[in-house]
Amino acid sequence: MTKLSSPKSYQEFRNALLKWFEKHQREMPWRGIDDPYKIWVSEVMLQQTQVKKVVSYYERFIAKFPDVQHLADAPLQDVLKVWEGLGYYARARNLHKAAQIITKEYAGKIPNDYATFRKLPGIGDYSAAAVHSIAFNEPYAAVDGNIKRVLARLLLIDTPINDTSSAKLFQQSADKLLDQKEPGQFNQAMMELGAIVCRPQSPTCLVCPVNQFCSAFQTARQDEFPIRLKREKVPEHHMIAGVIYKGSKALIVQRPLDGLLGGLWEFPNGNVEESENAEQACIRHISDVVNLSVSKIKYITRVRHAFTHFKIVVDVYTCDYQSGEVDLNGPIDAKWIKLNELKDYPLPRTTHKILEELI
Ligand code: ADE
Repeated sequence: MTKLSSPKSYQEFRNALLKWFEKHQREMPWRGIDDPYKIWVSEVMLQQTQVKKVVSYYERFIAKFPDVQHLADAPLQDVLKVWEGLGYYARARNLHKAAQIITKEYAGKIPNDYATFRKLPGIGDYSAAAVHSIAFNEPYAAVDGNIKRVLARLLLIDTPINDTSSAKLFQQSADKLLDQKEPGQFNQAMMELGAIVCRPQSPTCLVCPVNQFCSAFQTARQDEFPIRLKREKVPEHHMIAGVIYKGSKALIVQRPLDGLLGGLWEFPNGNVEESENAEQACIRHISDVVNLSVSKIKYITRVRHAFTHFKIVVDVYTCDYQSGEVDLNGPIDAKWIKLNELKDYPLPRTTHKILEELI
């Protein structure tokens, strides 16, 4: 038997949570506004990134692309440049694509019909529910990682929160708990509770506004919830990157638009195979990827980066162009540029790290 059982206890929970949120919510630039475009941008950014990091990105994004039309009209490169460093670049590409659909098919107005909005690129259950509840006050419960943790503790849900098969259960629990009158405030209150009180480690249960409804707290098991499936150890890939100089310029290539870091620019690179050393791999990839021969190959540095599901260790070489015409196998574009022009291009974090070593 959980502490939340009767309809009355559900209503008391909602009231207590909303009252707390009104008083204790942190100020954020996307709060207290009702522009669905801005709320959409904020929710897309917040989906995989913490509030603290999002604030400055959000402000720069809105200053540069103040509405759907500006975003739709902008070149993708400009959108990726503003997104640079925020990660998960598919979010930016989908936002851009969706803005173009909205200008073309919906006269520039964010669809206020949930099903229509949900079909746009990059919109999933979470973002559709978040945007529609916050911007249009529609009764959709948003379920993100924070909210799952709150629900798992409140209701002693022992299905792992990172197991896809648990999504339905958490959604049903959130649907049942949602405040139908103030769904936008309620969803944000749940997120805020998860972020500042019901934290992953050392939750501050004693000051929690809803601790009397929390089955985990009432049985002193808050540290046992939520349950998580153990992650496999993330693999580490050994890679090379080759900085090819031709006079004062170096060659950069653009990644395909779909997939990891899609649309970003970098130095030609690739994996080191078991059968070769890093220098051999560098010469091989330069030949394979851009069809050039090089000379004076020189080891510069090693940089590392962690993605969600793997890590990379990159050995960086410089070399001189010797012969050949650039012919791309993999990248979609290439340019010879001065290193100080790279600041105008959207770059992966790893390329920034390499640049710091080169300059
Ligand atoms: N995380 C996701 N959406 C949020 C929001 N609207 N406020 C605070 N944190 C969030």
